[in-house]
Amino acid sequence: MNEVLNAIKNRRTIRRFKPDPVDDDRIRMILEAGRWAPSFSNLQPWKFIIVRDQNLKNELDKASRECVLHLGINEAPVVILVCVDRRIDPLHGIEAGAAAAQNMALAGHSLGLGVGWIGVWGTAAEIAIQKLLQLPDTTRVVSLLPVGHADESPQSSRKSLDDLIQFR
Ligand SMILES: Cc1cc2nc3c(=O)[nH]c(=O)nc-3n(C[C@H](O)[C@H](O)[C@H](O)COP(=O)(O)O)c2cc1C
Repeated sequence: MNEVLNAIKNRRTIRRFKPDPVDDDRIRMILEAGRWAPSFSNLQPWKFIIVRDQNLKNELDKASRECVLHLGINEAPVVILVCVDRRIDPLHGIEAGAAAAQNMALAGHSLGLGVGWIGVWGTAAEIAIQKLLQLPDTTRVVSLLPVGHADESPQSSRKSLDDLIQFR
């Protein structure tokens, strides 16, 4: 297998992080990977908010607590919020955001970091986060990606390909 296919298979969602800091260069490379994601008509509706402030991470953790599994938000040295501007693309924001998030998760993994994924789009957590960060209601929050040095090595599994595909 080549490196991309290996990274796709070996990346895991990380929910436990060591306190060690993450350098700006690697965060920038992760954000660059997000920037190069595909989007409808190349509209690139993303905004990425990078949170290092511990108080704000604690607040984000609280805001997410009501309705999603929120492990890792206040533990990770960095949390990246993947947002989209619905004025730029009112229809495909969640897909563009998810594409950017997956690029970033793979980039983090390839750089030896762990990345979590908390989907908040359409939940009460999204509204709480919009309020916390005083985002305009045109800015939708797709997901939160805690980033740091993994303090766990989780296993995962997938349905068999035969259960997923049809040839017609
Ligand atoms: C849209 C989306 C939302 C997710 N939300 C959460 C979440 O709120 N909390 C969490 O712990 N993991 C979340 N995850 C991670 C999934 O639980 C994880 O991808 C799945 O269990 C497979 O594990 P793996 O990524 O390690 O292979 C989310 C993943 C996606 C793609």
